[in-house]
Order: sequence, then structure tokens, then C-alpha cells
Amino acid sequence: FENKISELRSKIMSFPDFPKKGILFWDIFSAVADGRTCKLLQSLLVDYTKKNFPDVEAIVGLESRGFLFSFSIAAELGVSCLPVRKKGKLPGDVLSYAYELEYGSDILEIQRNHIRPGMRCVIVDDLIATGGSLNAAIHLLKSCGADVIGCFVIIELPSLKGRSKIPNGIPVHSLMKLD
Ligand code: PRP
Ligand code: MG
Repeated sequence: FENKISELRSKIMSFPDFPKKGILFWDIFSAVADGRTCKLLQSLLVDYTKKNFPDVEAIVGLESRGFLFSFSIAAELGVSCLPVRKKGKLPGDVLSYAYELEYGSDILEIQRNHIRPGMRCVIVDDLIATGGSLNAAIHLLKSCGADVIGCFVIIELPSLKGRSKIPNGIPVHSLMKLD
């Protein structure tokens, strides 16, 4: 397991001052540009989800980088793949939540129609920074009556204290902590 994490870590490139001065951008796409790392990352995500959330019913991915991983896990497990998207992208009966980003602010939305009361959901994204996006997704899912059983990210930036924004009782797992 530790070898796989180190190999994955070695493929993730960082870019200083992107997209704004003072931000160090961790680029998950640099890791999945490598085919072997794609396969390795998928196995890490799927194994973790099976082990920790064996009764999960939906994998919820956050636009846009989270989508890469939510579909991959959901397809492997044969469970729902649901999107949380930025404002104005989803049709139908949509619920909105305004939140703060690492750089700027935004609104996230979810479609109510695919969520059943008590549906056991795991939220997936590439990275937790300030925790604003994950927190927004948790609020959206809970407002629709879902049961958020956990959050799963590849990268955590502990210096930004994103965990402090996550409601008590919702486990957040990260594959690696970077600063
Ligand atoms: C980035 C990242 C996470 C979020 C983390 O996404 O992919 O989704 O920010 O930040 P937070 O913990 O401070 O909320 P971004 O909104 O840049 O968009 P993208 O995934 O579409 O590139
Ligand atoms: Mg994102």
C-alpha cells in the first residue's frame, strides 16, 4: 500500500502561482497522464471504498476533477454515480448551495430526483483545500435526505484546515497529505 502511495505521489506535479499568485496548484491530471498510475490509482480508490463502505449506494463526484474518480469507482462497484456541479449546469429539480473556494467563491448544485431518502452516499474529489466544496456537497446531499457515510479525496492540504469545515461524524479519508 505505502509503495503504491509513493508511486502515485511521485507522479503528481505542483505548479506555483497557479491559477493565482500565492497558490500552489497540485495537478492530479499529471498523475493520470501516465497509464500505469491510472490503474494504480483506480485500484487504491476501489479497494478503499469496498473495504470502508461495503454498503455504499452512490458515489458522488464533485465537478470537475472529482468526476474522474466517481465514475471509475461507481462503475467498478455497480452503484450510482451522481454529480455535484457548478451553478447552471444541471437540468430539472436542482438544489443550490453557495460556498467559499480556495480562490474565489462559487455555487454548487445537485439534482434531487436521483436521491432516495437514506441513500448511503460517499463523496469523492481529487483534493480537499479549505473544505468549502466538500462541505457544500455534504449540505446538498443531507438536504435531499441522503446519508453521507464518508468523503474520500486523493490529496489533503492540512495547512488549509479543510477538515474543520466538515460536520462532525462524517469521516474524511485522504490518500496523502501535501503542503
Ligand atoms: C478544486 C479541487 C477541489 C476543490 C478544493 O476544484 O478540485 O474540488 O477545488 O477546494 P476547497 O477544499 O477549498 O473547496 P476547482 O473548484 O478548482 O475546480 P475543478 O475541479 O473543476 O478544476
Ligand atoms: Mg474540483
